[in-house]
Amino acid sequence: MGVRIRQLGSDDYPYVISVVDQWWGGRQMADMLPRLFFQHFTDTSFAAERDGRLTGFLVGFISQSRPEEAYIHFVGVDPDERGGGTGRRLYEAFFQAARARGCVLVRAVTSPVNRGSIEFHRRLGFEPETGDAEVDGVPVFSDYDGRGGDRVRFVRSLRDS
Ligand SMILES: CC(C)(COP(=O)(O)OP(=O)(O)OC[C@H]1O[C@@H](n2cnc3c(N)ncnc32)[C@H](O)[C@@H]1OP(=O)(O)O)[C@@H](O)C(=O)NCCC(=O)NCCS
Repeated sequence: MGVRIRQLGSDDYPYVISVVDQWWGGRQMADMLPRLFFQHFTDTSFAAERDGRLTGFLVGFISQSRPEEAYIHFVGVDPDERGGGTGRRLYEAFFQAARARGCVLVRAVTSPVNRGSIEFHRRLGFEPETGDAEVDGVPVFSDYDGRGGDRVRFVRSLRDS
């Protein structure tokens, strides 16, 4: 059976939080994903499932301060399901939801060590914003969250396809 995209909900939280660090290759990610995202941002957050099993998720929202901008906070696909278009389908569902709410651009932030995420975002039409430094040829914003880490800030227009 194929992969189905549906809205993410609070019932998905226990499973997602139990696998998230493992899906990120052992990085500590769970602290960045409190349950509130599965309660207050569900209109613009999506799950992928195959045979009733969650195989991917996207947490995103419309900016409250900049209503024409949308932001993708998290996306993850089960390692056994990668490379099959699930991440793309989750992003496309989000783009459609954001456009329907009048957004004209979407932003996402990733870590420069996450080369897979950088390539994925480029393939999805995102461009990195010019920062204050470069890591392995990718522009970054240093000390972005105030704890010494560099971040790549991606932006994509929603006006094209
Ligand atoms: C990044 C991630 C969500 C991609 O999901 P996916 O389902 O494998 O992606 P898709 O199969 O939909 O790929 C979409 C496009 O990105 C490309 N792509 C995806 N992962 C890639 C990688 N690691 N390296 C190079 N290209 C990649 C694919 O080739 C594809 O290109 P195409 O459609 O133009 O042929 C997944 O690898 C993941 O969960 N990684 C760990 C979590 C993470 O880093 N999340 C992002 C930061 S929050």
